[in-house]
Amino acid sequence: MKAIEIRKKYLNFFKNHGHAVIPSAPLIPENDSSVLFTTAGMQPLVPYLLGEPHPQGKRLTDYQKCVRTNDIEEVGDNRHLTYFEMLGNWSLGDYFKEESIQMSYDFLTQELQIPAEKISVTCFAGDEDCARDEVTAECWKKAGIPEERIYYFGKDDNWWIAGETGPCGPDTEMFYDTGKPKCSPNCNPSCGCGKYVEIWNNVFMEFYKDENGKYTKLKQKNVDTGLGIERMTMILEGKETPFETELFSHIMDKLVELQKVDNISSRRIIAEHLRSSMMIIADGGRPSNIDRGYILRRLIRRMIRHMNKLEISLDELSTLIELNVENLKEMYPELENKKEIIKNVILEEKDKFVKTLTKGEKEFEKEIAEIRKQGKEVVDGKIVFRLYDTYGFPPEVTEELAQENGMKIDKEEFNKLFKEHQEKSRAGSEQKFKGGLASTGEMETKYHTATHLLNAALKQVLGQHVHQKGSNITAERMRFDFSHPSKMTDEEKQKTEDLVNSWIQSAIPVEHMEMKKEEAIKMGAEAMFIEKYGDIVSVYKIGDFSLEVCGGPHVHNTSELGHFKIKKEESSSSGVRRIKAILEE
Ligand code: ALA
Repeated sequence: MKAIEIRKKYLNFFKNHGHAVIPSAPLIPENDSSVLFTTAGMQPLVPYLLGEPHPQGKRLTDYQKCVRTNDIEEVGDNRHLTYFEMLGNWSLGDYFKEESIQMSYDFLTQELQIPAEKISVTCFAGDEDCARDEVTAECWKKAGIPEERIYYFGKDDNWWIAGETGPCGPDTEMFYDTGKPKCSPNCNPSCGCGKYVEIWNNVFMEFYKDENGKYTKLKQKNVDTGLGIERMTMILEGKETPFETELFSHIMDKLVELQKVDNISSRRIIAEHLRSSMMIIADGGRPSNIDRGYILRRLIRRMIRHMNKLEISLDELSTLIELNVENLKEMYPELENKKEIIKNVILEEKDKFVKTLTKGEKEFEKEIAEIRKQGKEVVDGKIVFRLYDTYGFPPEVTEELAQENGMKIDKEEFNKLFKEHQEKSRAGSEQKFKGGLASTGEMETKYHTATHLLNAALKQVLGQHVHQKGSNITAERMRFDFSHPSKMTDEEKQKTEDLVNSWIQSAIPVEHMEMKKEEAIKMGAEAMFIEKYGDIVSVYKIGDFSLEVCGGPHVHNTSELGHFKIKKEESSSSGVRRIKAILEE
């Protein structure tokens, strides 16, 4: 059965069971810069899992495009993917365990015709946070799974949460028995030997985990399920890996035809990274040196390097892109609609990489000659980092070059430097979100404080729905983005300006405090992306109207600011307005 047929069957089945079919959210999350990509179907639905009513009702189903890149280095083996599609059905405080399990069982055995005896399931074993999930086990028995194919595991296997905090709960996973022999007498679905393949995960999301690791019950009991379409296609097409299914086989075959050197792992990397990059670009991603742009860059560059390894001409990239569009356009029409953009972005990135590749290789050779002179065999982590930072060399490129020269790289030192760099850029982006440019000049400092006053004034004039969405400060002006649905009237602008100026005239001290993050939250301090801060946060308080988590810097007294003037109020993006303002003498 083709992937698209599985998707159609799935959405239809749940539609017939009262679910509204909703579209996939884009891979690049809207209005949420705290995550790089959509990593699970539940992610765009978090507000509704927390209790906000969804306009389409309490039963939803969809397919969701996902990118997870924490295992990027593993791609090339027989199963890891960075892009995948997840089919999901949701109950937002509607049905719970029994109905969810019965529907899953019926879909697998009746719609997909998977023999019931091929299915094993796992349930949550219980701990101090949540009881052993015997209710789920009972539901499975009732549906038709005998006791000997029901297993219990702890939080590592049978508990689902996206990240560190948020809605979560025990889950039940369904496994397909490939018929391979047991790896040991104790072989079970969690052992990972390949006998059992996980095919579906139903999460009974009734908890919320907070920053202190404490679990509390949510307002409603939800169900969130995820069925990976690549794995299911693999099973139903009787293949050993997703790369042999119709989702990848056209590219894999073409690569065999084009290659001069044979390497299956490189072929998988090329096929996987090409699809992933194309999907990210279709949803608006572009290569760059930071955040999600860097991930895309890395995917494209890794793909190119492996084309080089197989000695496939890079001119063939266009052919490969065309081939992927042809094969995947029924599932993803956006690939066809954005074909030219996708091609341009990938080819441009290829040209850039080819240029730096030559320069970087020269640089590498210089370094290597020096190391050799010193009689050493290890390429220093600093050099690996510089090649990465300046020439965009993924460390694995340097590692391979080193190996070709009979050397090793100091991976540990590279990882240390890389981590430091990540922390710096994360701190940088906190600053970017929190305080515009992290500049400490006299005027910039005044603008930082003016930002807090403006934020507080907008809340008073427009309402408590106003939240900061971004800001940017230079010595000449400030820019402030905030949530508000409509254009501000002249009267509202005037009131805001007057309020800020009245606070300036009142000469109010700006107090600085350090406190535990939970304490700041309890006090009601405002913060964008509070989860990004460490345990101890810096908080600025102005009068009784402004309290914000912020790295500063700020003036000591509002009287230092001068006269505040709004120059412009305009739309920034959907539901977000932008104010440009200045401080005058
Ligand atoms: N959210 C669950 C998962 O991603 C269904 O596995």
